Amino acid sequence: MSRRKIRMIIILATVALGGLLTVQLLWLNKAFKSEEKEFNLAVQVAMSQTVQQLLAKANPVETAKPVKHLTSSFFLAEVNAPIKAQELDTLLRQEFARRHLSIPYEYGILNAEDDTLVFGNYVPATIKVTKTEAFLKNTIQAAPNGYYNFVVVFPTRTTHILSEMQLWVYSTLALLVVILFFAYILYSILQEKRLSELKADFINNMTHELQTPITNIAIASEILRKADSNLPAAKSQRYHQIIFQENERLKSQVEQVLQMAELDKKAMRLTKTSINVHQLLADSLQRLSLRLQKRSGQITCYLNAEKATIEADSQHLTNALYNLLDNAEKYSPQTPNIQVSTRNYQQGILISIADKGQGIRKEVQRFIFDTFYRVPTGNIHNVRGFGLGLSYVKTIIQAHQGSIRVKSQENQGSCFELYLPFRA
Ligand SMILES: Nc1ncnc2c1ncn2[C@@H]1O[C@H](COP(=O)(O)OP(=O)(O)OP(=O)(O)O)[C@@H](O)[C@H]1O
Ligand SMILES: [Mg+2]
Repeated sequence: MSRRKIRMIIILATVALGGLLTVQLLWLNKAFKSEEKEFNLAVQVAMSQTVQQLLAKANPVETAKPVKHLTSSFFLAEVNAPIKAQELDTLLRQEFARRHLSIPYEYGILNAEDDTLVFGNYVPATIKVTKTEAFLKNTIQAAPNGYYNFVVVFPTRTTHILSEMQLWVYSTLALLVVILFFAYILYSILQEKRLSELKADFINNMTHELQTPITNIAIASEILRKADSNLPAAKSQRYHQIIFQENERLKSQVEQVLQMAELDKKAMRLTKTSINVHQLLADSLQRLSLRLQKRSGQITCYLNAEKATIEADSQHLTNALYNLLDNAEKYSPQTPNIQVSTRNYQQGILISIADKGQGIRKEVQRFIFDTFYRVPTGNIHNVRGFGLGLSYVKTIIQAHQGSIRVKSQENQGSCFELYLPFRA
């Protein structure tokens, strides 16, 4: 899939899903408002009826004032007449039940003159008879002729309304699941895309890398073939040397790729023995020494670990250390200056390999351990590689239950730290 096509898909799908979600939320809001209105109306009617009945007993000539809706869950009925708590309690239960308002509520009787609370009770939705029945009978009997109002509060009003519109809530949740699923698919597509780009780069890169030794071998052997035996011994020796060296290079390159393919198949088998990390470092430094000498590079070692023996696969670990040293040399555009140090921790050893080379930008540091990844350098291809080294290192270190991390600053240098436990 091309980059443009993917971008189009992302934009269209985002717009479509965004629109759908907006419409859904608008409808949800509307449905909530209408449920709310219905609820408020039912409460107001129920309370008005209660007031009517209270007044009919206390003062038949008085007509009831409308019930006031003070805040979202708070209703006030101005009775302005004596109220018996028990009577109010019974009436409220009756009226609410008649309108199917099965929701817990609290009511309070207020003194009409100064709004002080003289009685309050909580009524759970499901229990019809309260324990306070006896108590209710006697309350406010002391001032039967006072003037009172009452209030009703619904502490769980919003959840009650939402529970009445379950279908809406479920359909919104379903839409959210669809959106999450879409985001996941998108993520996978982008991930795939990245991998396929990396693979394409790798193939280009590899073809180029293999072509160089093949061309050199072809030229050298062609010269030897044409010259037959007329070539001076020294020259002929030189061409044979080239063929041998280039063939070695080819061999190691093919090996590197095969090694990675092996790791990919998870077919790696570690042969662990008791080995000395300092010895492995010396071996891998030995492999690098010729190249360093050519560039008059410098290596400083601070081998501070007193206990340097660990259980590990010496072949793989030497390769891993060599890969890090190889990078330190390759990515030092000026004279290489490499520092190798070790130190002990309670359960293992920390090896650090630092260089003063070109460094790695912060934003790409998290990619460098990915297979095939190479930091993009525009059109300059002065340093060759497959992007396999660090991914190999990471796999090996993890197989030893160790860890690896990088600290680096652009144009300042990089430092790779490996931690390996004594015994995995
Ligand atoms: N010491 C370092 N200094 C600066 N950049 C580095 C260093 N080590 C690694 N990198 C960056 O990380 C990338 C990945 O490194 P890695 O060793 O995996 O691949 P490579 O060196 O390009 O190829 P290979 O090791 O397979 O021959 C490199 O392309 C380079 O851009
Ligand atoms: Mg490398």
